[in-house]
Amino acid sequence: MVRILAERSKLEAFSGKRPGISIVRPRNPVLYKLLLLLLQLYSGESDLQLNYYSESCPRAEEIIKEQVTGLYHKHGNTAVSWIRNLFHDCIVKSCDASLLLDTANGMKSEKTSSRSFGMRNFKYINTIKDALEKECPMEVSCADIVALSARDGVILLGGPHIEMKTGRKDSKESHIAEVEDFIPNHNDSISSVLSRFQSIGIDTEGTVALLGAHSIGRVHCKNIVPRIYPTVDPTLDPAYANYLKGRCPSPEPNPKAIEYARNDRITPMLLDNMYYKNILSHKGLLLVDQQLVSDPDTYPFVEKMAADNDYFHEQFSKALLILSENNPLTEEQGEIRRDCRYVNRN
Ligand code: HEM
Ligand SMILES: *[C@@H]1O[C@H](CO)[C@@H](O)[C@H](O)[C@H]1NC(C)=O
Repeated sequence: MVRILAERSKLEAFSGKRPGISIVRPRNPVLYKLLLLLLQLYSGESDLQLNYYSESCPRAEEIIKEQVTGLYHKHGNTAVSWIRNLFHDCIVKSCDASLLLDTANGMKSEKTSSRSFGMRNFKYINTIKDALEKECPMEVSCADIVALSARDGVILLGGPHIEMKTGRKDSKESHIAEVEDFIPNHNDSISSVLSRFQSIGIDTEGTVALLGAHSIGRVHCKNIVPRIYPTVDPTLDPAYANYLKGRCPSPEPNPKAIEYARNDRITPMLLDNMYYKNILSHKGLLLVDQQLVSDPDTYPFVEKMAADNDYFHEQFSKALLILSENNPLTEEQGEIRRDCRYVNRN
C-alpha cells in the first residue's frame, strides 16, 4: 500500500499534475490516466492532495484560516463545532458536506437527525463560504471547508497541526437515512463503536484518540440524565455525580432549555489529554466515554494517552486524517456548491 502510494506520487510528479513540479509531460496521457486509475482502484485511495487550490484559488486556505480565527475570537465554541462537523460529515458515507444541506425540495437535512442533537454554529459556515466566494467564486468546495476549518479549529484549541489534503467535491444529496447506521449513539456498546470506526479504517487506538475530542465542548442534560436518575451509574464518581445533578436538576430536562455540562471542567477549551485523566477518575460524561476505561482493549490506550499529551496528539491527528479522507467525492462525482446549505440549481 505504501509502495503503491509512493509510486503514484512519482507518477504525479512526472506528469506535472502537482502544481509547481512540472518536470516532464506524460508521453502517453491515455496510458498515464489508465495507470493512475488502476493504482487508485487498487489502493482505494482518492485524488485528494495537499494544496489542491494552489492555482485555482491560491489564498483559499489562508482565507479559511482568517475566517476561522476571526470567528474563534468572537465565538470560541465555533472551533469546537468545526471538529464535530468533520466527524458527523465524514463518517456518514463520505466527506462530502452532505451534513451542511438544509431541508429543501423534499430532501431532509442530516442536521434534523437525533444524532445531530446539540450541533451548533452552522450559520458561520456561510461566513467562511462568503469570504471564499468573494475572492474566487465557485472554486472551493464546502466539503473542503469542513476539513480545513476542523484543521484550523484544532490548532486554535491547542491541538496538533494536521496535514489536511483538499480536492473534495460536494454531494448533491443528503444521507439522512444512513446517519444512524454510522454515528453511534451516546450509550452504544464499545464493541459497536469500535466496529463502526473499524469500517472506515480507524483502529482501536485511533478510536480512543478521536474520542479525545470530548475534551472540549459540552453535553446537554438530555444525554447525562440517564446516568444520574433514578440511580447514579456506579461507574461515575459520586462527588462528580452530585455536581452533574446540580447542572441537571430534573430527570426530564426540557429539550429546549440550554442545560448542559462542560465535557472537561479543568481545560474546557483545550484539545488536550485531560479527557483521559477525567475518565480514569470516573468523570466521563457519556456512557461511551466511560466505557473506554472499562473495556480491556481500549483501557491501555486510555492510560497511555492520559500519561502523554504528545502521544495523544500524534494519534489524534493520524486518526482525524483518516476520517477526513473517508471516501471523498472527487472531480465529476460531485459539485462545488454555491451555498453550502443547498444543492446548486442548474
Ligand atoms: C462513539 C462516538 C461518539 C459519540 C457517541 C458522540 C456523541 C456525542 C454527544 C452525545 C455529544 C453531546 C451533544 C449534546 O448533548 O449537545 C457530543 C459532543 C461532541 N462531540 Fe461527540 N461523539 C462521538 C465521537 C466524536 C468524535 C470522533 C468527535 C470528533 C473527532 C466528536 C466531537 C464532539 C465535539 C467537539 C462535541 C462538543 C460539541 C459542542 O460543544 O458543540 N465526537 N458527542
Ligand atoms: C440509549 O439512549 C436512547 C435515547 O438516546 C434510549 O432510547 C435507549 O433506550 C438507550 N439504550 C440503552 C441500551 O440504554
